[in-house]
Amino acid sequence: MSLTREINFTLNGSPVKVTVPVTMNTLTLLREQLNLTGTKYGCGEGECGACTILMDGVSVNACLMFAVDCDGRQLTTVEGLLTDCDSDPLRNAFVEKGGVQCGFCSPGMMMQATHILKQNPNADREQIQRGLEGNLCRCTGYKKIVDAVASVSKHED
Ligand code: FES
Ligand code: FES
Repeated sequence: MSLTREINFTLNGSPVKVTVPVTMNTLTLLREQLNLTGTKYGCGEGECGACTILMDGVSVNACLMFAVDCDGRQLTTVEGLLTDCDSDPLRNAFVEKGGVQCGFCSPGMMMQATHILKQNPNADREQIQRGLEGNLCRCTGYKKIVDAVASVSKHED
């Protein structure tokens, strides 16, 4: 028998009330119970960054967090970030600079980039590169992703 608990939190600006097994992680809650599949399952061990979301404005790996720890928090997923896809500067920069190839890492990269630029809107290339170190991409070689984030930063070379 698995123990469950009711939790309340804000997800992409809307209140959510759900009952979850105490052993469930936040990534499973998002993808399988709330059908928000933009957040990806890569390694399940905190190594790849594919599951990056914002919790109270700070980036975290959803695969490493128990769902019950979302109680009372504000969560943002890529679905909440890209509410107006066509005019979102970060999303457009990823497309224009070629930072999206297969796209698997892109949601996590964009969430982490949002965190980096929120902490430091003037982040330079080195700071962006360091900030993205926990996010793995098998396709782009990273340069185009850093180019994309740098083009949105207010930093001037
Ligand atoms: S799936 Fe969470 S860090 Fe890889
Ligand atoms: S674009 Fe394919 S893993 Fe990053």
